[in-house]
Amino acid sequence: MASVWWQHGVVYQIYPRSFQDTDGDGVGDLTGIHQRLDYLSWLGIDAIWISPIFPSPMADFGYDVSDYCGIDPLFGSLADFDALVAAAHARNIKVILDFVPNHTSDHHPWFIKSRASRDNPKRDWYIWRDGKAGGAPPNNWVSQFGGPAWTPDAATGQFYLHSFLAQQPDLNWRNPDVRTAMYDALRFWLDRGVDGFRVDVLWLLIKDAALRDNPPNPAYVPAQAGINRFLSLYNADQPETLDVVAEMRAVLDRYSDRVLIGEIYLPLERLVAYYGKDLRGAQLPFNFQLINAAWTAPVVAKLVAEYEAALPPGGWPNWVLGNHDQPRIAARVGAAQARIAAMLLLTLRGTPTMYYADELGLGRVVIPPAAVQDPWEKNEPGLALGRDPSRTPMQWDAGVNAGFSSGPPWLPLDTNYRSDNVEALRGDPASLLTLYRHLLELRRQHTALNSGSFRLVGVEGNVLMYDRVAADERIVVVLNFGDSAQGVSIAEKFSGAAVLASTHTPRHIELGALTLQPNEGLVLLVS
Ligand code: GLC
Repeated sequence: MASVWWQHGVVYQIYPRSFQDTDGDGVGDLTGIHQRLDYLSWLGIDAIWISPIFPSPMADFGYDVSDYCGIDPLFGSLADFDALVAAAHARNIKVILDFVPNHTSDHHPWFIKSRASRDNPKRDWYIWRDGKAGGAPPNNWVSQFGGPAWTPDAATGQFYLHSFLAQQPDLNWRNPDVRTAMYDALRFWLDRGVDGFRVDVLWLLIKDAALRDNPPNPAYVPAQAGINRFLSLYNADQPETLDVVAEMRAVLDRYSDRVLIGEIYLPLERLVAYYGKDLRGAQLPFNFQLINAAWTAPVVAKLVAEYEAALPPGGWPNWVLGNHDQPRIAARVGAAQARIAAMLLLTLRGTPTMYYADELGLGRVVIPPAAVQDPWEKNEPGLALGRDPSRTPMQWDAGVNAGFSSGPPWLPLDTNYRSDNVEALRGDPASLLTLYRHLLELRRQHTALNSGSFRLVGVEGNVLMYDRVAADERIVVVLNFGDSAQGVSIAEKFSGAAVLASTHTPRHIELGALTLQPNEGLVLLVS
């Protein structure tokens, strides 16, 4: 393998509150992740990205950081963290942290100072403005979680900007001291052996210098989240953001073999700009296109082709099916197609990111109203925006609380946990978990899959076909996105093919007359 780990490897996202609890408080912790490393080794992933574990009042469950250089006691201690990194590295698993630079918690000492007086040296570390006449906010920007993005502060009579909750004030990334402090935080973790960062809302960091009003969105309908009322022209994706990304990358480049991943929800042509000039930006600007795409072979074929074509020369692709902010893949496409999705994710060209428990086929877990935790759901109820249904505890076994915790879990378990858990599924040759593990193994073993070229072979009806080629091997992937059987005329060309993987096991193909069963996917080694 000529490529580096973050190119040929597979990233697995852990939402730490929900992975494994060891102290009975119903919330996962670092020792829990540590104890489950053997599972992750067995599964065959290469890196874990852990959602935020830093001290936080947890208004947004860790995405409101009050100290960038510590561990929240809920999750453990710095010693637990160091032990986890050492144990992960001993198993050849890299550790990626979640860096949240756009905003701090309102409990962060920087913000406490900043709000104290207009002439405090930290005042300009955040974005403060006078309101308009009559007490209206400085401009029309909307919080990503609904309501105005500005909150008035009585102490100094000005408003501060918050792209998310009022408890998450935005830092002023135009201030060089903010940048220095945040790069110091990156170095704190890099020095402790962290292998990279997933950077939260990277495209939102810099705001229009004049804080101009956003134009109305003509396509907005009230069933949508409030953030859609306006086009994000002035509060997002400003040209200066790319300078910040290059600076972050330069911090990482002083260390060997680290990766910068960016959370970026932008159209393709803007997304690829985050690779940076001469690829000096994010190595992996997260590619979320599969998350909102209509799940058909023609649509997926088109978006894969467009993405491949839009990449800058040398830019490495990546693919994401879900995360802690999105409905789970099995909830979006159903159990049968979740198997196709697994095969797609792990055979496309580029780094795949898996989301914990997707390998068990978890879907949309029903959260009773009294159990709702997500502040977005609480801010904008009734729009089905809540993210709790995708954040429920990992299901390890059929025992008490699915082996997640000895105490009541912070979010309810899926009712299916007695059958759909790691212990039950790992012994079942037909399970989704077994399929994931097999695909991960194939991806590791075959250079064509982890580093080879990609070519769209074609689309027939609802079947997508592509190949992956390395010097000495050609692998063809055939995916039926539909729930009816479909013949594939191109099959003659695959003569001599061996089935490396199938969503339907056991499976033998008849050469020259390949008919895919409903929802069937095949990975074929073609000589
Ligand atoms: C990102 C995170 C999300 C969080 C938000 C604010 O989108 O993924 O969970 O609520 O940023 O930090």
